[in-house]
Amino acid sequence: MRLTMPASYRQLGPVCIMQQIDVLELESRSRPPKAIPTRPISAAPPVSSEILLRNQDLQGNGNPGDTPSTVGFSNQTLETIFGQMVIIVPCKNEDPKTVRNVLRGIPATCAVLLVSNCADGYTELSAMLENICKYGRQAILVHQKYQGAALAFGAVGVPQLLDPLRTDTIRDGKGEGMYLGIAMARTFFPERQYVGFVDADNQVPGSVNEYCRVYAAGFLLSHQYSDAGEEQVMVRISWQCKPKVRNGQISYDEPEGRSSRVVNSWLNRLFAKPFGDDSKFITTGNAGEHAMTMDMALGSRWANGYAIETYQFLDPFLPPTSNLSSATTNGIRGHNSGKPRRILQIRTLNPHLHRQGDDLHILRMWAAGLGVIWHNLSQRAVIPGIDQSTLDEIRTELVKYAVENGGLAKKKRLPRPRVYPALNQLDFDEFKKVMTEQRNLQSYGAPLFFGFDDCEQLDD
Ligand code: GDD
Ligand code: MG
Repeated sequence: MRLTMPASYRQLGPVCIMQQIDVLELESRSRPPKAIPTRPISAAPPVSSEILLRNQDLQGNGNPGDTPSTVGFSNQTLETIFGQMVIIVPCKNEDPKTVRNVLRGIPATCAVLLVSNCADGYTELSAMLENICKYGRQAILVHQKYQGAALAFGAVGVPQLLDPLRTDTIRDGKGEGMYLGIAMARTFFPERQYVGFVDADNQVPGSVNEYCRVYAAGFLLSHQYSDAGEEQVMVRISWQCKPKVRNGQISYDEPEGRSSRVVNSWLNRLFAKPFGDDSKFITTGNAGEHAMTMDMALGSRWANGYAIETYQFLDPFLPPTSNLSSATTNGIRGHNSGKPRRILQIRTLNPHLHRQGDDLHILRMWAAGLGVIWHNLSQRAVIPGIDQSTLDEIRTELVKYAVENGGLAKKKRLPRPRVYPALNQLDFDEFKKVMTEQRNLQSYGAPLFFGFDDCEQLDD
C-alpha cells in the first residue's frame, strides 16, 4: 500500500494530529532498499526492523535532501501487523448476508470479534462464523446482552456499563459494544498489539479490506516518528466519498457524511481555527472506522453510543478521573499512561456505502458529537494554545447552532455523553473467570469461539 506522507501536523501538548494522508495505491510495488533519510527505526517485535527496512519504500521527487512525499509498504510487511490485530465488528440488526461479506473482507490473519446486539439470529450468526472460519480464521462471537458479560463488568468495577432497567445486561449502544469488544480482545487475544473497528453494515467488502490495510500501513508509518512503544497511535479513516443518489443519479462527490460534516467543522473550530488555520484539518471527527494500539485502547476512557468517536479527540485533554468502584483495583483510574499520542487521518480510495440513516438518526448522531465538545469544554479541558475565552466563544456558538438546527435534547441541552473508565487497570483474570463460568456460558449470547484449538480460549 502506498500513502502520501503527511504534509504537516499539529502538536497540542502530548497529542500530535497529522494532516490527512491519502492512499495512493492499494498495493505498492516492492523496491530494493534505499537509504532512509529519517530517524532510525526500532520496531516493536515481532515486526523486525529488518523487515521494515527491507519493505518500506520512501519516495521523493528525486532531488537530494528532499523530504520523501510517499511511502509504500509491501503486502508482506502489512501482514506482520494483521497478525497482531483484532478487528471488532459492532452489529445491531444488520442483514446477516451483509455482515458475512464484511467479515470476508477482513484480512484472514486478523482476529475478529463480532459483538452483536441484534434482536435475534444469534444461531444464524454463529453458523455463519463457523463457515467463514473453516479456512483458518480465528473469531469470537458474543452478544452484548450476555449476562456473563454484565456480571464480569460488575465484578471488575464497571457497573456504570450496566443497563439500569436490566442490570443483568450491558446497556445498548455502539460505544458500549466496542467497550465490551476491547475487554474481550484483551482477554482472549492478549498477545495482539492493535485493535480496529469496522461497521457491520458496509456494502463494499473491498472497502473493509482497504480499511484494515490502512490501519496496518498507518501503524507502520508511525514508526517513522517515534521509536515503537513510545507513543500511543490511532489511525482514523476518512472515506473517499459517501455515494448519494441525486436526481436518479449516483453522485460520488460527497466526501463527508451528513453527521461528519457538522462534527468536523466544530472540531476545526477547536483544533485549526485558533491557530490561524482555515483548512479542513480535522476530517475524521466521528470516524466509525478507526484503529489504535492496544495500550491506547486500554488507556483511554470511552464514551457511550455514537458519542465515542468525537470523544476520542477530547479525552486526552481532560483531567484523569477515579471512577472505578471496585475493590479489585487500586481505585485510581487515570485515563492514560501519560504517553504521547499520535493521530493519523488517512483517506481511502474506496467509497463508503452503508445502510442509510434517516434524518432523526443523523441529527442524534451529530448532536451526540457536539454534546461531547460542549460538555467537555466546560469541564476543565486544557487544550494547549487555546485560551479560555476562545473555548467559551466556541461553546456559545455551538449551542446557537444546535438550537437553530434542532439538536437540543431533553432539558434543552446538548446530550451529555456517559463516559466509561479506562480499562487498563481491570482485573482481566477475574473478568475472564466470570465471563466463562460454566453457569454463565449457558445463558443467551455467551461467547462462541471459532478457529481456536479445543478449549484453547478457556485455558489460563
Ligand atoms: N454491538 C452493537 N451495539 N452494535 C451497534 C449498536 C449497539 O447498540 N448500535 C449500532 N451498532 C452497529 C451497527 O450495526 C453498525 O454496524 C455500526 O454499529 C454503526 O452503526 P450505524 O447505525 O450504521 O451508524 P452510522 O452508519 O449512522 O454511523 C457510522 O458512521 C459515523 C460517521 O459518519 C458509525 O460508525 C458512527 O459511529 C460514526 O460516527
Ligand atoms: Mg452505518
